[in-house]
This record gives sequence, structure tokens and C-alpha cells, in this order.
Amino acid sequence: MKKYLVIGNPVEHSLSPKLHNYWLKENNIDAVYEKKQIEESNIQGIISEIKNGKIEGINITVPFKKSVIPFLDELEYLAKKTQSVNTIYKKENKIVGDNTDVLGFKYALQHIKYKVKGKKIFILGAGGVTSSIIFALEQMEASTIMLSNRTKEKAESLKKKYPYLDLINWGDIKNFDMIINATSLGLKENDKIPINYNKIGSEKFFYDLIYNPKKTNFLLEAEKHGHRIENGKLMFLYQAQSAFEMWTGFQPPINTKVLQLLEND
Ligand code: ATR
Repeated sequence: MKKYLVIGNPVEHSLSPKLHNYWLKENNIDAVYEKKQIEESNIQGIISEIKNGKIEGINITVPFKKSVIPFLDELEYLAKKTQSVNTIYKKENKIVGDNTDVLGFKYALQHIKYKVKGKKIFILGAGGVTSSIIFALEQMEASTIMLSNRTKEKAESLKKKYPYLDLINWGDIKNFDMIINATSLGLKENDKIPINYNKIGSEKFFYDLIYNPKKTNFLLEAEKHGHRIENGKLMFLYQAQSAFEMWTGFQPPINTKVLQLLEND
């Protein structure tokens, strides 16, 4: 039986196994998708299992999207651009790293018909997924991309790659159309992001990459102030859809059945 895997730390919260196992079954593919919490020192060993055919494909989640890169033979275009890998497979005996977060984010916004073109976007966080978000926003022709991170050096390092970024001090706010939480703040119930909601105008769009919990404090507070909100569930679904297609050749539909599958998690 073929085997797929998501690796990360922590990885307990990941809904990838549930989703991919559902799609494998729907498409009559004799395979299983598992999750595995690993340490950085385990990366090389696990990737070698793709080479020797024990594992078909791997998804990478926090905090290893960058640290897997030295162990790969090739990077596809988006992985190279963003220096972030979330999907790995074997092609002509080479281990290839790809990135489906960029497409996942774009398709999620298309799904809800939000147009980024000409909009001012404010990103919070400069962790592993942020370069994918910036690249997607660039492709969708945002007019301005502002970035704020608690640790300034990480934001400055992203600015080297994306010189048009407007860096904002952590805790400060500037006029925006859409604000994106790309930090891990919100995963825990008491997590709060230090932004002053009274300094933000009306009818803004608050987007949280976190989908579990469904509504972080960031989104709950925004909703109270009458802003539009969206969590990261659709992005999660679309990045998984692209990975599944790369591995199997099948593109599973994102429909109400799939949305319901994850509804109670
Ligand atoms: P990594 O930084 O290893 O890539 P990540 O989960 O992808 O991990 O990113 C975590 C993000 O959440 C970072 O932007 C981090 O900010 P720092 O770069 O300053 O660490 C942010 N983050 C996590 N906890 C935070 C907190 N308590 N306050 C502010 N930002 C926080």
C-alpha cells in the first residue's frame, strides 16, 4: 500500500490526514496518509524514504518549510521563488520540492470572489508561510504590501527578497483594505494580537490563515467591529487539492461535501 505523510512540529492539529484519506478513498487509490511529529534531525531520514519508495509524497508544515530545502534534489518554480516547500515527491528518481500555498491562497480568495488588485494589504507575521502570501499578493497585483513582525530582523530579511515591502513596527497600524494574520497567534484561546481596532476605519477585510479555531480573537474582535472576516480553511483545502493532484493526477473538487467533512473539527 502506498504511503503519504505530513511532517511538522506540532502536527497534532493537522486536518491533512482526514482530508487526503477521504480523497484517496473517493478515487479508489490504495494508499494511506499519516501524520508524524518530527525533529529537524529526522528530516534527512524521512526524505530518503521517498527515494527508496517507502513513501510516495510528503506535506511539510511548520516549522520545516524552509529547512527541508537542503535535502531536496530540485525545486519547482514557486518553491524556488518563495524558498518555502510544503509538498515533496519523486520525479525521475529525483526528490522534488514544490509549493502549493501560493495557489492555495489565490484560489481561496477567488472562491470568495475577493479582488486583491489595487488593494492595500497589511500582513502580520514573517514566519514560514509569509513569503508564499507575499508572492501570491504580488501576482494578484496588490497596490501596497505592508509587513509587520514582532522580530524586526525577519521582516527585514523578507524585504531583501521583496524590496517593495513597506515595513511597519509591531503594534503600529496603517491604512489598509485587507489585513492578514500570518502569525501563530490565535492558535491558543487566550492569544491576542496587539492592534487597536479603534484606529481602523470601517468595512475592512480581516483574513486569518488559522482555521482551527474557526474564529480567532483577531476575527472575533473584527466581526464585533463590523468588518468582513474569513479564516484559513479554504486556503488549507486548496493547497491540499494541488498537492493531491501533483501526487495522483486527480483534482478533487472543493464542494459542500468536503467543506462539511471538516466542519466539526
Ligand atoms: P517560524 O517563525 O519558525 O517560521 P511560524 O509558525 O511559521 O514559525 O511563524 C510564527 C510567526 O508568528 C512569526 O511571525 C512569529 O513572530 P517572531 O518572528 O517575532 O517570532 C509570530 N509569533 C509567534 N508568537 C508570537 C507572539 N507571542 N507575539 C508576536 N508574534 C508572534
